[in-house]
Amino acid sequence: MGETYELVIHGGQCVTPSGIQRVDVGVREGRIVALGSIRKEQGARHIDATGLHVLPGAIDSQVHFREPGLEHKEDLATGTASAALGGITAVFEMPNTKPNTDSFAAMADKVERTRGRVWTDISFFMGATPENAHRLAELENEPGCCGVKVFMGSSTGSLLIDDVGVLERALTSGHRRIAVHCEDEARLRERRPMLDRPDAHVGEHHKWRDAETALLATQTLIRLARKARRPVHVLHVTTAAEIAFLATCKDIATFEITPQHLTLHAPDCYDRLGTFAQMNPPIREKHHQDALWWAIENGVADVLGSDHAPHTREEKARDYPKSPSGMPGVQTMLPLMLDHVNSGRLTLMRLVDLLCHGPARLYGLTDRGRLAPGFRGDFTLVDLKAKRTITHADQASRVGWTPFDGHQVTGWPMATIINGETVMQDGALIGSPSGQPIVFPNSFSEPSLEPQ
Ligand code: DOR
Repeated sequence: MGETYELVIHGGQCVTPSGIQRVDVGVREGRIVALGSIRKEQGARHIDATGLHVLPGAIDSQVHFREPGLEHKEDLATGTASAALGGITAVFEMPNTKPNTDSFAAMADKVERTRGRVWTDISFFMGATPENAHRLAELENEPGCCGVKVFMGSSTGSLLIDDVGVLERALTSGHRRIAVHCEDEARLRERRPMLDRPDAHVGEHHKWRDAETALLATQTLIRLARKARRPVHVLHVTTAAEIAFLATCKDIATFEITPQHLTLHAPDCYDRLGTFAQMNPPIREKHHQDALWWAIENGVADVLGSDHAPHTREEKARDYPKSPSGMPGVQTMLPLMLDHVNSGRLTLMRLVDLLCHGPARLYGLTDRGRLAPGFRGDFTLVDLKAKRTITHADQASRVGWTPFDGHQVTGWPMATIINGETVMQDGALIGSPSGQPIVFPNSFSEPSLEPQ
């Protein structure tokens, strides 16, 4: 009989660090222990992956799941169900909940809320504020925390650091890579009166929050990051100028692009979707989108993140600018990107770099993001040939809508496997929610509760 395994993934095309190979995978105690020629019978369980590609588990490093306080939009159970259905094995959740995740107690509360309720692995960002900026070195090492998030411009919620001195304090407190929303608050405030007209239209959203607003904040961040010698991660980059600039900052800064900024563009998205296309930073014109694709195609962008930011249809239908910014995306990220793979915009290897290896590399998760012995038994199985239509009805998010309703794609996630256990197969959730808070090797140490 030879070696035996708890799980054998048989017959798939595996995306390994050495290329795409027709190999079988053996998993024991939740970890990959063998890649090679393995018979189905060698597994206590086996999955037939014939005709499918086997990817390392996809990681979505930017989602907003709204719990606690805003559960009418989403909660940890519905958000992670959407993730698992979308082929995502782990998510990093944002701190602009109610209350904000900006203290030891708020972080512990979120971690506690995951017990028996989450379908994927999960970790949480600590929100930086003027009040906690000097304590981030302790806060960022809380169990369950993936790092610190800074809002340099106001968006959904109250989290904001718009003062350079406070931002410097935040950057000098702690060591882990800080994730930053880069929009310049002073410029946003200065330009906001342009919308104080009864006929203000969402098609102006990217003119109010213009390209200069994004670039100014990104430049400020990099200047301070270099001074503080602190690695930073620029979230959802949207402009051609930022791409050109960040391509010269790889020594200190990584950056993210979202599938919606790669797939939608202005003014078409505002004409078709109105306020349902409103998000921060905004969807911009085609020439910005071309620059984002340049960064994907040339290996300059580090990760894709969905920025899943659900608001109810009623909330989104309010008159602009009272309509909230954000759109769901955790369930549609992989289908959209697989479709782009099929259109020849990027290779499957590059997609794995952006969605699996990239987040693991940035946040120090040394045992995720690769199909290799010793790595976790997390897998996303995809059918590159499946033709499907994205619909509102198929969304597990509590808000039940997607900006991509009616969008036809080629390429679909067929199974999500976490820690050797199948949690999604053929569009259905399986078993019970058994996701775990993620343990980061760079923050094993217990935090001290003493004030600095
Ligand atoms: O459009 C956005 N929505 N951008 C953000 O920065 C926050 C997010 C949300 O939480 O709704």
